[in-house]
Amino acid sequence: MKKIGNQFLSEWTVSENVYHPANERTGGTQFCIGNGLTGLRGSYEELGTKEVQGLFANNVFRKSVVQFFAPVDTFCRKKYIFNEELMPTREEIYILQDLPDPLYCRIRLNGEPFRMWDGKLLEYNRTLDLKTGMLSRDVRWDNGNGNITSLRFRRFCSMTERHLIAQEITITPENWSGKIEIESGIDASLNTEYAESIVTESTTGFILKSEVQGGAKVFQAMENRLTDYSGEWKSETKLQRYKKVAAIEAKQGKKIVLEKFSTVYSSMDENLQAEAGTLVKRSANEGFDACFEKSSKAWESLWEQADIRIEGDPESQGKIRFALFHLIIASPQTDSRSSIGAKALSGQGYSGHVFWDTDIALSPFYQWVFPKWAGAHVRYRHRMLDYARKYAESENRKGARFPWQSSIKGFEHAPVAITCSRTQIHVTIDVAYCVLRYADISGDSQWMETEGQEIVTECARYMAERVEYNEAKDRYEILGVGGPDEYHPVTDNNAYTNYLTAYVLRRAAALCDDKNEAAEWLEIAEKIYCPIDEKSGLIPQCDGFYDLKDSWEESGGTWGGPGAEYHECKGMKQPDVIQMLTMLPEQFQQKHFQANWDYYERFILHGSSLSPSIHALVAAKLGLMEKAMEYFNLSAEFDFVNYNNDTVAGIHIGNFGGLWQAMVYGFAGMVMRDGELCFDPHLPANWTSLEFNIRFRGESLQIRIADGKATVCKKR
Ligand code: BGC
Repeated sequence: MKKIGNQFLSEWTVSENVYHPANERTGGTQFCIGNGLTGLRGSYEELGTKEVQGLFANNVFRKSVVQFFAPVDTFCRKKYIFNEELMPTREEIYILQDLPDPLYCRIRLNGEPFRMWDGKLLEYNRTLDLKTGMLSRDVRWDNGNGNITSLRFRRFCSMTERHLIAQEITITPENWSGKIEIESGIDASLNTEYAESIVTESTTGFILKSEVQGGAKVFQAMENRLTDYSGEWKSETKLQRYKKVAAIEAKQGKKIVLEKFSTVYSSMDENLQAEAGTLVKRSANEGFDACFEKSSKAWESLWEQADIRIEGDPESQGKIRFALFHLIIASPQTDSRSSIGAKALSGQGYSGHVFWDTDIALSPFYQWVFPKWAGAHVRYRHRMLDYARKYAESENRKGARFPWQSSIKGFEHAPVAITCSRTQIHVTIDVAYCVLRYADISGDSQWMETEGQEIVTECARYMAERVEYNEAKDRYEILGVGGPDEYHPVTDNNAYTNYLTAYVLRRAAALCDDKNEAAEWLEIAEKIYCPIDEKSGLIPQCDGFYDLKDSWEESGGTWGGPGAEYHECKGMKQPDVIQMLTMLPEQFQQKHFQANWDYYERFILHGSSLSPSIHALVAAKLGLMEKAMEYFNLSAEFDFVNYNNDTVAGIHIGNFGGLWQAMVYGFAGMVMRDGELCFDPHLPANWTSLEFNIRFRGESLQIRIADGKATVCKKR
């Protein structure tokens, strides 16, 4: 087993055997479980000392107000023009709400509260089983007076009944007999952003209703089952902790098993209260093990489709499975009412908002592995199209402009002070690109002819207005924008933006019913400035990039973090030209990848988690295996080692989408050319084979890379 950060990683498990209060917050993210409908952080049942608790439900956002920042960088403001006043509903934003905590359980052993940081912790092990989504914790605890108790906690978010969370707590007094008191319920005390109340109550449980600011209603039903217990369950509410309390006469060596079931229904669901109550009772009657068995079967078929098998390197195997686990639990599956935020449902970082990450970093995994789930994301973008139209209108432009950061409401949620949010117009092209790739891969032509076509043409319409014609040079240009690299937020002719605009306009022209408009788009695509050094294949990131100083020190130290004034050195937050090459691999040859890698790699600072995986992809594609593994590990370990010091805010899910791309587009070298799949694999010496599954236009394919060759088989 390999130790990374505080965790041990095997092929199918992540575990730790040391408890330290200082690790509680990052551990909450690292041991997060979920099913795309709910995300449940790895908080302890008895709540630790520093934990950020967290149950998140897909689509439950609260209304909040925009924070206004002091106006910044006049230089940037001169470069782009839009009317902030016309931007719709700028006074409000929506933030992912953390819900009342269903894990809540306090245990008193002979009158003393069980707390890992009190007494003596004799043994501790926490393990996440990636295969089944079960999180378990085994503890042996001495209360300080020699009374030893062993406790086992298990929990899972069901993959079959996706509203269900099940817990099991087993308590065994090893060398004592006496009284054990269990308080089990839902803790609503940690938050003031909802008003909650119990709506119905039974002997062993209740239903709690919470109204979130902005209107969302959440029903959480909870039921307790305690084996061999015929005593009373007392109801108690203290400081917004709603609980049932049982007092048990415990005997030395005899196990006490509590099964606790909770369900989460949000306002998206009809019949909320009744369904919450029915499901929780049914599950409680079936029991923890039976519910778990059903959920595990669902996991089995998900893994059957999603797994990537690496022969010869168990360490990398575990790492890629941890990434796949998170990709599986991040997706709302076929529900198009919401999409995947930058931290999925594992934390409140970026307020649960959707970025270009979903279209570009995450979508390839879903498009190739779970096309129906990918379909839900593009349908979600279609739901947001009217907001995007209004955004374009606020700039007096036609078409649709998609925001940098949005939520269940599709207007720009980022404050204007975050310059790159206003200048990264590439998000609009990214959405169109994602739609086109979805259609290419899934073959969903029916949707493409209606909503898909509408998105792509509206994005093209906006871009056709956003370009500027330079008469002297007889070319189209895009001025005052930033590409993905946020350290250069306001530049002219960003290559990522220009090349992808050309791509989208060309393809949009083929979908456009208006001949004149289509001809205009083709002309722009033809004449948009896409510079490249013909001999070497090097592409400048933007006008004047080569003239910038190489390093921060050389630039006189004026280079700051994102949002600061124009940056005067080449230090990049994340790949820009290289990112673009990976998105249009059919247009470029190996020499282009090589030249741009050779030039840009040294300037990359990996300020974004989206960065290392794309470098792994390109290094593998170029056969630079040492570099490929260096970046593979950086990406795979990002949240294990808390690389950016923000793992507490949630998992960097876009990073894992990129890691999947590194495996398939990089190591396996898969490219789609003229509708055909081609492979140019490069594996590290110790990987004897690499296997994965994809779905391509309705067909299930199994890909095996070994001995420098790719074998493609149809799957049953
Ligand atoms: C990155 C962006 C990304 C955002 C959300 C930023 O740090 O630079 O590219 O969209 O995080 O993940």
